[in-house]
Amino acid sequence: MVNKITVVGAGNVGATTAQRIAEKELARHVILVDIQEGIPQGKGLDQQQSAPIEGFDSRVTGTNGYDETTGSEVVVITAGIARKPGMSRDDLLNTNAGIVKQVSESVRSTSPNAIVIVVSNPLDVMSYVAKEVTGFPRERVLGMAGVLDTARYRAFIAEALDVSVRDIQAMVLGGHGDTMVPLISYTSVSGIPVTQLMAREKLDAIVERTRTGGAEIVKHLKTGSAYYAPSAAAVQMCEAIVRDQRRILPCAAWLEGEYGMSGLFLGVPCILGRNGLERIIEVELTDSERNALEKSADAVREPMSAINL
Ligand SMILES: NC(=O)c1ccc[n+]([C@@H]2O[C@H](COP(=O)([O-])OP(=O)(O)OC[C@H]3O[C@@H](n4cnc5c(N)ncnc54)[C@H](O)[C@@H]3O)[C@@H](O)[C@H]2O)c1
Repeated sequence: MVNKITVVGAGNVGATTAQRIAEKELARHVILVDIQEGIPQGKGLDQQQSAPIEGFDSRVTGTNGYDETTGSEVVVITAGIARKPGMSRDDLLNTNAGIVKQVSESVRSTSPNAIVIVVSNPLDVMSYVAKEVTGFPRERVLGMAGVLDTARYRAFIAEALDVSVRDIQAMVLGGHGDTMVPLISYTSVSGIPVTQLMAREKLDAIVERTRTGGAEIVKHLKTGSAYYAPSAAAVQMCEAIVRDQRRILPCAAWLEGEYGMSGLFLGVPCILGRNGLERIIEVELTDSERNALEKSADAVREPMSAINL
């Protein structure tokens, strides 16, 4: 385990992320930060008291400041407002940009060597805000979206085929929005191409449900958005980093020529290890997948250009 992981934002995603990090003992100290007085302290204490039952030795501490976070190896940013029914992720743009900017300034001064995982939406643009404001190299700023989108896609396929979720290998690339790109050509079930097991219309319906998977949950919840799967996804990225697993996970990474694009965050296959982003893998894409990825990049560039840092 590393010494310290900080989770900023003690709301639904942040608190669940802290709990999962502690239960997996990824860090000796898990620090939960929020601007709301009492919330991170109360949730941190509550989680700490689950330690004897769950049997973990990570210590969870809640705070409203950054002193306790000093020298964190990993910082997960979940601060910001979440979607309500009828809202798109881009509707959160200006409010969350201000919040992520303020958080990133604090992270830069207290944990200058941290690896930052951004969760706040709109994800690809907030990752850009975090990278610009911290000034950290691209290896140390990553966005969480692809692991979640892929998990939704894998869960739907496993359910449709009535097989184990463990046996579904897949990858969803692109921006974290309706333009995301589930790669059917790289979807397999224990090595068997999914197209051999499922009719194309059924697969297309699953792809569509994946694209709107977040909105489906917002519609049910009405007062907030998903957090069990999002926190699990953020923690899988944390684990790959702190345990130096070198896992290949779809993450939002800053592109410098990969896939013929530069100067934006976009979901691409990444090797994650102790240095954060170890390498971006460029896979071959069909013409339609490449077009879809470029369309997705356009959908990220537009709100990005509206940001004033
Ligand atoms: N990337 C993804 O796939 C994904 C998935 C789910 C949610 N999200 C996003 O994550 C964010 C959090 O979602 P949630 O459901 O936990 O929302 P939430 O409302 O439950 O929690 C957000 C928390 O952030 C806190 N906060 C606000 N400003 C802050 C600041 N300056 N410093 C510290 N804390 C601050 C709030 O007090 C609140 O407790 C949202 O933007 C949501 O859209 C992203």
